[in-house]
This record gives sequence, structure tokens and C-alpha cells, in this order.
Amino acid sequence: MSSKVDVRRVAAVVGALVADAAGQPIHWNYNLDRLDAILAETPEVAFIEPSINPFYTLPCGSQSGYGDQSFTILKSLVDNNGRCNSLYSISLNTDALNKAMYDCFGPDSAYENDTNAIYKDKSDITTKATKYPIHGPWRHFGIKEFLRNFQERKESTGSPTDEQIDCAVRIVPVVALYAGRPEMLSRAEVVVRQTQDNDMCVAVGLAAARILEYCILNGRTDGAVEATIEQLSDQDRECPQELDKAVAGFLREVVRRKSEPHIPVARSIKIS
Ligand SMILES: *[C@@H]1O[C@H](CO)[C@@H](O)[C@H](O)[C@H]1NC(C)=O
Repeated sequence: MSSKVDVRRVAAVVGALVADAAGQPIHWNYNLDRLDAILAETPEVAFIEPSINPFYTLPCGSQSGYGDQSFTILKSLVDNNGRCNSLYSISLNTDALNKAMYDCFGPDSAYENDTNAIYKDKSDITTKATKYPIHGPWRHFGIKEFLRNFQERKESTGSPTDEQIDCAVRIVPVVALYAGRPEMLSRAEVVVRQTQDNDMCVAVGLAAARILEYCILNGRTDGAVEATIEQLSDQDRECPQELDKAVAGFLREVVRRKSEPHIPVARSIKIS
């Protein structure tokens, strides 16, 4: 069981969850002047205390709404012998993963909060300054839509419009389990579409899945991004998406500029 590859499967899951908890008290700081001022005074930003998260606060060490999704998927995969789609269940709405997500994020969970429920967009944080950050976990947009669709027993539970980065975190436990097996990408797609049923999230999530799979199978070595670009350009690839070409283009840009300092590069990239 403890081959090098299996050790890296575990490391992918644990690393993603620990990194999530480390970033939770500082993420979503969109006021870059404020963030720069804090960073100038705080050399160590992992597990920063007290929290400077403008949206919500939790005890230091807690998972964010990303980590909780990833952990819920991990636990459901383990509880159900690796199954993550409805092929094995009576209907989509009784699927174990749907139920696990509903239990973690639904009306009877700590995620139920009136202030979070009326939140619309980033401007709320400044215009309704007295109410934020809330004290408790934050329910993401895609999760809100999943809960509505699940309650309405819709066939497709995922949001057609939520194009945020949850997809890249949701795939981690799936890739850890299925790395090296032909069904890896199709399983990851099911898990992304559960809450984000749109091609942008699938293209980005599956690119992340390919990069992570490469690292799990090959260990600490260069070439994961280059190998992913190559896969995305292969006409016979698994789970093809029309957006793969655009994703490959962005990845090429990343490779081309990888020796430049991260922050100015990240700030210079515009995605229309
Ligand atoms: C929701 O957040 C507000 C603001 O932090 C808090 O006062 C309230 O107790 C929370 N509600 C629930 C049900 O947790």
C-alpha cells in the first residue's frame, strides 16, 4: 500500500486541506492596498491570527468553504467505495454525494446564515460594512445554487453560471483516488458538475486534475504543466472541452513567464 505513488495520493489530499486552513484567515482580500499594508508588517501569512478575512471569521485552523467541499467529497468517496456518480444509485437525488453535500452545507448546517444569504456581490462588503465579516462559515455561490436545485429535485444540481475556482479544489480527492486510471477525468467531471455545471469550470477543473495527476504519478519533477498543455492539445484526449485550447494558451503564458515575479504577472493577466 505505501508505494511512492500512494504516499503522494495521501499528500495531495492532506496538503490541499492544510493549505486551505492556512489560507482561510487571509483569503478574499480584494482591497490590494489593505492587503499590501498587512503583508508589509506580517512576514508569516499562513494561519494568520487574528483573521483578516473580510467576509467571515472562523477559529484559526478551520477549513474554508473550499476545504469543506473537498473534505466532504473525500469522505463520500471513501464511504461509498470510490463511487461518485449516480450510476450506482436509484436516482440522482438520492446519490450519496448529493446527500453528503446537503448535510455539510444545507439548512441544518453551520453554513445557514441570514447575512450570508442576502449577500449579492463584493460591493456589499463596503456598503453594508456593519454586518461583515460574519461569524461562521461562508456558503459559496455555487453551493447556494446546488442546495436550491437539490431541494427542487432537479436532474442537474450544478450552477450553469458560477465560474469560480471551487472546481480546482473539488477535484483533489477524486484525482488522489483515481490517478493513473482511465476513469479519472470522467469522475472528476461528475464531481465538478455537481455544483458547477458549466464548461468553463469543467475545462479549468480538468486541467487542474491533469496537473495534479502528473505530480502524483511522477513526484517532484518539472514538466507537469508542459505535459498538461500537451494533453490538452491531443485530439484524442479524454473528456474534451472546446475551451481546452484557451486553457492551454493560458498555461503556455504561465510557462513563458515563470521566471518573472508572481504578483505583477498575476495582476497583468486579464481574462475577459
Ligand atoms: C450569522 O452571522 C451574523 C453576523 O456575524 C451573526 O450575528 C449570526 O449569529 C449568524 N447567524 C447564525 C444563524 O449563525
